[in-house]
Amino acid sequence: MTIRKLGCLTVLFGLIISGCTNQPVVNEDEILRNKIAQLVQAERNNFSAQQISEYPLGSVLSGGGSRPSDGSVQGWKKMVTGYQEKSDIPILYGVDAVHGHNNLLGATIFPHNIGLGAANDEDLMRRIGVATAKEVSATGIHWNFAPTLAVVQDIRWGRTYESFSEDQTLVSRLGTAYIQGLQSAGIAATAKHFLADGATEFGSASGSYLLDQGDARLSEDEIRRVHLHPYIDAIEKGDVLTVMISYSSINGKKLHASKYWITDVLKGELGFKGVVISDWEAIHQLPGSLYQQIVASMNAGIDMLMEPFKWKETVDTMVRAVNNGDISKERIEDAYQRVMLVKEKLGLLDGSFKMADASVIHSQEHQDLAREAVAKSLVLLKNNGVLPLKKNAKILLIGPGADNAGLASGGWTYSWQGETTGSNLPQATTLKQAFESVASAFGGMITTDVSLINQVDIVVLALAEQPYAEGVGDATDLALNGSQMSAANKDALMLAKASKKPVVTILTAGRPRVVTDELKDWDAFVMAWLYGTEAKGITDVLYGDVNFTGRLPFSWPKTSKTDDISSQDPDRDASNVLFDFGFGLKYE
Ligand code: GLC
Repeated sequence: MTIRKLGCLTVLFGLIISGCTNQPVVNEDEILRNKIAQLVQAERNNFSAQQISEYPLGSVLSGGGSRPSDGSVQGWKKMVTGYQEKSDIPILYGVDAVHGHNNLLGATIFPHNIGLGAANDEDLMRRIGVATAKEVSATGIHWNFAPTLAVVQDIRWGRTYESFSEDQTLVSRLGTAYIQGLQSAGIAATAKHFLADGATEFGSASGSYLLDQGDARLSEDEIRRVHLHPYIDAIEKGDVLTVMISYSSINGKKLHASKYWITDVLKGELGFKGVVISDWEAIHQLPGSLYQQIVASMNAGIDMLMEPFKWKETVDTMVRAVNNGDISKERIEDAYQRVMLVKEKLGLLDGSFKMADASVIHSQEHQDLAREAVAKSLVLLKNNGVLPLKKNAKILLIGPGADNAGLASGGWTYSWQGETTGSNLPQATTLKQAFESVASAFGGMITTDVSLINQVDIVVLALAEQPYAEGVGDATDLALNGSQMSAANKDALMLAKASKKPVVTILTAGRPRVVTDELKDWDAFVMAWLYGTEAKGITDVLYGDVNFTGRLPFSWPKTSKTDDISSQDPDRDASNVLFDFGFGLKYE
C-alpha cells in the first residue's frame, strides 16, 4: 500500500467512523492536528496512555535508564501494549540499545562500539545487530537509536566509546553491517548523530560540555570526505530507516537548523526516505522562542521532534505555525508520510510486527556471541613473553577492574551514566569469575588477597575508568590518575610496581589513556575497552585458547593533547602517537 493511498484512507476512515457513530465529521483541522501529533515523541515518564486520546503522538521513548516499574520483559511489553491499545495509529517506541538492550535487567551487554572497531569484523557486527534486535523486540520495542556513526577525531570526547573508529571507512563498514543486522530482524536503526558530531573542537561547546555539543570547524570537503561517508553507506547499503541530528554545529551553524545538510544533502543528494529525528530537546539550543525553534527545525527538514517534556506545547505550537503559514502543509505531509513509511515497514500498521520470545534474553547463543566479540576486541600492545598465561598459574588479580561488571560495561548500561558496581548486572561474568573458572579447572590459583603477593607467579593489574555518558565523560586529562579514573587505579599501580613480579596490565576504558610513563613497568599490556558482561572472552585469549586479532581503531596518544593525532588529520602530529592506528600484536 502506497503512503498516499494510506493518507486518503486515513481521511476516509475518519469520515466512516464519524458517520457510523454520529460523531461530528472529522474536519480538516483535526486531521492536520493528528498528523502533527505523529511528528512528536515524548518520554515515557511524562506521557501516559490516557493522554493519547487528546495527544495521539507518533512515538514514545525511554531515555537512558528509563524503564517501567516492572522492569521484566513482561513489564516492558505491558507498558508498550498500554500505549498501543489507546492509539488509532500505533506508536513507535524507541530506546538506546547501544551495546545490547542495555536498559533491560539481565540483557546481554556487548562491547561498546570502540571495542567492536578493534575487532573490525562485519559478519560479527551483523550478528550482534540481529541479537540486539531480538532482545529489543522481545520487550515489544520497535526502534533502536543506534548505531552512532561518529568518526571521532579527539578521544577526549566522552562519546568516543560510542564510535567505531577515527577512520571513516571502518565506521562505514561496521555501522552498515550493524544496521543490516538490526533491521533484518525487524527493528528500525538510527544513523546518528548527523553530522560531524565526532569532529567538534575541544572547548567549543557552551556550558560544561567541552566536545559533546561543540562546533566542527572544517571545510565542506573534509566534512564530506570523513564525516558524511558513513551516512552514504548507511543509506545506500544499509537502507537505514531513521537518522538523528547532532546537537553540534558545523562552522558555527547548528545542525538542527541546517536546511542545507538535512534537506539538500541528506534527503536530496543522498536520497534518504526515512525519518529524521531531533536529539533530546536539542531544538531548544536554537535561538528564539519555542515557536521559532520548531519552525526552524521543521523547515530545515526534521520530521520528528524528540520532546521528552514539552510534547504538548510542541504539538499545539506546530499547529499554530502551520495555520500561520510559517510551516507549510506540504512539509507536514512529507514528514507524516515518512513516519507512516517507517511504521509500515516495521509492520506496525498491518499488525505484522514480530516480537521475539523472551528466551532470547541473555541466551547461551547471545552469551557465546558476546564472548566471541570480547575476544576479537582485545588489542595486545606489549608482551615480553609473559602471555599466554599457564592455566595452572598462581595469579594475584588487583585493581578496580578486577571484579566489577559496571566498570566493564561503561555508560548507557542499566542507567544512563552506567553502573559503578555490578549489582544491577547479575547476569554478568566478571574478570575475576572468568579467571576462577579456568584456574579451578586446571589447578591454578586466583586471588585478590594482596597479602599472598609473595606466593603468586604473576600479577594481573586490572585498571578501569569510571563509567560515563555524553558530555559527562569529556576528559581534560587522559593520564591514569586523570579524568574519570578512581584513586583505586593509583593504589593498584603502585602495588604492582612494588611486587617485583611479572605484571600483565588489562585496561578497561572507553578510549586510549596516557600510559607513556607506566608502560615500562608492565610485561604485557592488553586494551579491553568496555567489554560488557562476558569476561570469558578475555581469559579465552589470555590463556591462549584464542589468539589476539584486535587492532587499534584509534591512534594512541603519548600525551593528553589529542586534537591532532588522528590518522585522518592532514596536519597530524605523529610525534604524539605512542601506538599507531591499526597497531596490534598477536601470539607468534
Ligand atoms: C541523548 C543522546 C542520543 C540519544 C538520545 C535519547 O541526548 O544524544 O544519542 O539517542 O538522547 O536517549
